[in-house]
Amino acid sequence: MQVLHTVAELRTSLAGKTGTAFVPTMGNLHAGHVSLVELAKQHGQPVVASIFVNPLQFGAGEDFERYPRTLDADCNKLAAAGCDIVFAPAVSELYPVPQSFTVQPSDSLTRDLDGAFRPGHFNGVATVVLKLFNLVQPRVAVFGKKDCQQLLVIRELVRQFNLPIEIVAGDTLREADGLAMSSRNGYLDASERIQAVRLQHELATIRASVESGERDYASLSATACRHLKMAGWRVDYIELRDAMNLQTPAPDSRQLVVLGAAWLGKTRLIDNLDFDLPAQA
Ligand code: PAF
Repeated sequence: MQVLHTVAELRTSLAGKTGTAFVPTMGNLHAGHVSLVELAKQHGQPVVASIFVNPLQFGAGEDFERYPRTLDADCNKLAAAGCDIVFAPAVSELYPVPQSFTVQPSDSLTRDLDGAFRPGHFNGVATVVLKLFNLVQPRVAVFGKKDCQQLLVIRELVRQFNLPIEIVAGDTLREADGLAMSSRNGYLDASERIQAVRLQHELATIRASVESGERDYASLSATACRHLKMAGWRVDYIELRDAMNLQTPAPDSRQLVVLGAAWLGKTRLIDNLDFDLPAQA
């Protein structure tokens, strides 16, 4: 496996390759990332993973500085997963001058859910992903379903800029108790870690209620928020949406997703569960 740090090395290594499968990451990799690399291997070759903690997508007071940088351990995991090339540029390599040209995703995709609580986040994500796509020029790129709104933004980026890239979504991997794997789970202390699965439980309760015919989505969300707050969480949102566009479900919406973001102490966790309603429900 090659570990490359400069744009020039990456371009040389990928010259003439037309079937590249790409997995962008911020490092501090866990089994969920490894599963994305394994998925990428089914879709193209060589498999390229990037490791870059992108300052543009972190707001003031967020965890850019403390986000773990674990390049050696990450490379071991990627090599074991069969990755061919790791691209791990410094900030000065990817942003040699201040990035004054940026991608502004449409307001309809980013004005609420995570976009409302992390202003500018999706501009930063879309901008770095477009840069990485331009450098790697993949045929396929793999993103995790856990970042549901991000996945929608990337799909729209590819569509509206006519990028010849197939976006493949990888399922969320979970710990034995159901907690979605996340690089940020490492911030949790022992008692928070035990509590952390509550977010997923509340989402699963909403899903079960909707599957059994309940349609008062606002009341379901309010109940879940109340439960989490009573258990000491600070809730950003719990929402039931149409999985196709993340808008409020229409009466005939059949593909739904329940999404949540909430804080346990200093750690912000997000999760979502997608599900289909039968046509007659
Ligand atoms: O999902 C992530 O890890 C990041 O948002 C991404 C897509 C690598 C862009 O920095």
